[in-house]
Amino acid sequence: MNTPRLVMDLDRVGAAYRAMRAAMPDVAVHYAMKCNPHPRVVEHLKGLGCGFEIASANELEQLLTIGVPAAGILFSNPVKPETHIAKAHAAGVLRFAFDSTDELDKLVRAAPGASVYVRLAVPDLHSEVPSEGKFGVDLGTAAQLLLAARDRGLDPHGVTFHVGSQMLHPRAWAQPLEMVGELMDKLAAEDVRLSLVDLGGGFPVRYTSDPPPLAEYAAVINAGLAALRYPVQAVIEPGRALVAEAGTLVATVIGVADRMGKRWVHLDVGAFNGFMESLETGNQLRFPVDCEATQASSVQTRSAAGGSSTRRPRVNLTGPTCDSQDTILFDVELSRDLATGDRVHLGSAGAYTTVYASSFNGFEPPLVDIQENGERQ
Ligand SMILES: Cc1ncc(COP(=O)(O)O)c(C=O)c1O
Repeated sequence: MNTPRLVMDLDRVGAAYRAMRAAMPDVAVHYAMKCNPHPRVVEHLKGLGCGFEIASANELEQLLTIGVPAAGILFSNPVKPETHIAKAHAAGVLRFAFDSTDELDKLVRAAPGASVYVRLAVPDLHSEVPSEGKFGVDLGTAAQLLLAARDRGLDPHGVTFHVGSQMLHPRAWAQPLEMVGELMDKLAAEDVRLSLVDLGGGFPVRYTSDPPPLAEYAAVINAGLAALRYPVQAVIEPGRALVAEAGTLVATVIGVADRMGKRWVHLDVGAFNGFMESLETGNQLRFPVDCEATQASSVQTRSAAGGSSTRRPRVNLTGPTCDSQDTILFDVELSRDLATGDRVHLGSAGAYTTVYASSFNGFEPPLVDIQENGERQ
């Protein structure tokens, strides 16, 4: 088998989707397909009744090709090329996020009559993958933008926010939902009633330790929604939580080296052709690691980064390019016997991996294998 290869287990994608539906039965799920747009993953979620959130016209095109109705799709990228807005509007997309008058101008021109939802900036409770800080406005500006949208012939449809990716604090949704309540009050004075509250993504997965249970997130969200002034259509846009744990990245050791007291294990996958989030998080996202011996090597053991009971020597797991930023994990407990040709499996690799990958230095992004009903296809 050629590597690197991402094995995506659709059964686990389905299980993650069902768990979210069960925890928040009154909240619609729209998959943030940017996270892993593999056609089989997207089709599988469509088959389960999942909705979708897009960031571009190309993502929309993929959904239209498989028959996803445009009217149900959320276009949540707050700043879009005008051509993408026009294409989406022509295809029947009805709902668009925004957080500026410039975007409003584009929406008025390219999507007359559309329903718009404003992106709110929310308190930063520090998520594990820092993804926020670029979008969102304060409450006063959010109200003004929605009123301006109404005055210019658009439907002031709702509000959205994103608490940050891999958010380990369930309470991160509490204050934003209170802010939504305040926004409702401000708008009620102007006879505007919101229809949509989009709670974004950010739901976490297991890397080498368990995140808080989904039930804790659901309790905060369900209570926050119940406390709103009037009922609304609530949606979430999970990316990572639906696909990360379903993915295992199978890599091959292409070389080992001892450098100044440290063992470096070089894989055929690294930050640039799959593990960009290692770079983004300063190597703090601790993907679980297993090793698998080839016949030629003497690796006997399996271990997990930071999670093994018997202490083993620590190695640095790095990628194939000439760039030092290519390292996936420092100080992983793995056998020192790991040798060229051995396989290494990195878990929780289904989100923000293949889709971020480039072929820098000529090392190709991983191939993708699909597994369903326990069988590799
Ligand atoms: C608008 C929007 N919604 C949802 C998501 C998905 O976030 P996550 O993968 O943390 O669930 C993102 C991710 O960047 C996003 O930008």
